[in-house]
Amino acid sequence: MRLRERGATLIVQTPAKLNLFLEILRRRSDGYHDLETVMLSVGLFDTLRFREETTGRIEVNCFDAGAGWRADGEPDGRLLGGRDNLVVQAASLLRASTGTQRGVRVDVFKRIPAAAGLAGGSSDAAATLVALNRLWGLNLHRSQLQTLASQLGSDVAFFLTGASAALCRGRGEPVERIRLSRPLYFVIVRPPHGLSTAVVFAHCRPTPQPRSAKPLLDDLRHGRLARIAKGLYNALAEPAAELEPTLTDVRTVLAQQPVMGQLMSGSGSAHFGLCATRRQALRVAARLHSAGIGRVFVARSC
Ligand code: C5P
Repeated sequence: MRLRERGATLIVQTPAKLNLFLEILRRRSDGYHDLETVMLSVGLFDTLRFREETTGRIEVNCFDAGAGWRADGEPDGRLLGGRDNLVVQAASLLRASTGTQRGVRVDVFKRIPAAAGLAGGSSDAAATLVALNRLWGLNLHRSQLQTLASQLGSDVAFFLTGASAALCRGRGEPVERIRLSRPLYFVIVRPPHGLSTAVVFAHCRPTPQPRSAKPLLDDLRHGRLARIAKGLYNALAEPAAELEPTLTDVRTVLAQQPVMGQLMSGSGSAHFGLCATRRQALRVAARLHSAGIGRVFVARSC
């Protein structure tokens, strides 16, 4: 997450994540699942602009980042955003838990596709906690922000750590930062159909003999690319493909590309290919774009 101050405005760039490994350990009594997962932040960013709103209101507007600007200087490409928007929820939670009456206008410029398993909404929520803590002068400690993060969603806490990669357990709480010894390059495809996290989890079964992320962690630390590619694993991939059979086509097309390995991220529907170099990622992206299997992005580990 990158934060810049421009006068009274705070601008935050906040990344997407990929799950390089995701195992389901057990279903919990609260309806969630205990996981072992490796999350990696990648350079596909949403940009959020925060300005104090003197009326005390919380106003959030979402825009397609690619849409440009109108003649009156306002952003074009407005997207619909309801009360369930995690930015609204994060701002409201901060107000409720601190008692502040201050308001904010947030413009969210979306690049991270929704319903993709890339945690764009969670990343925006983490950015909101950090930015409003500063803008509203709340002085909340990181650990207090982490507590609020877990109330907003399972993936929010990862983005607050600012880690490029982390091993996460439980609902998805980061337990160990991972230092990568080399950058990783990805091509990411968001198929036309998105998937709901809750629906995919409702359709999954805990694995009787769970795999461990440990070998992958060692390979990430030592930058062993071929072994990282072999260690990619997501226990939600099959349940997701049962719910959305067209995902099999995405996998087939990705398997025909010169990628080192491929996987679905989180609860989908986005898939990624791990590439040896940025040039290879760009080449594969051009081919996937012509194949017309969805929106295509190239991103590097942060
Ligand atoms: O935490 P978040 O709101 O992103 O989760 C959305 C839904 O995904 C949850 O309501 C739950 O049904 C499911 N989920 C789960 N186990 C997790 C994370 C999410 O079952 N570890």
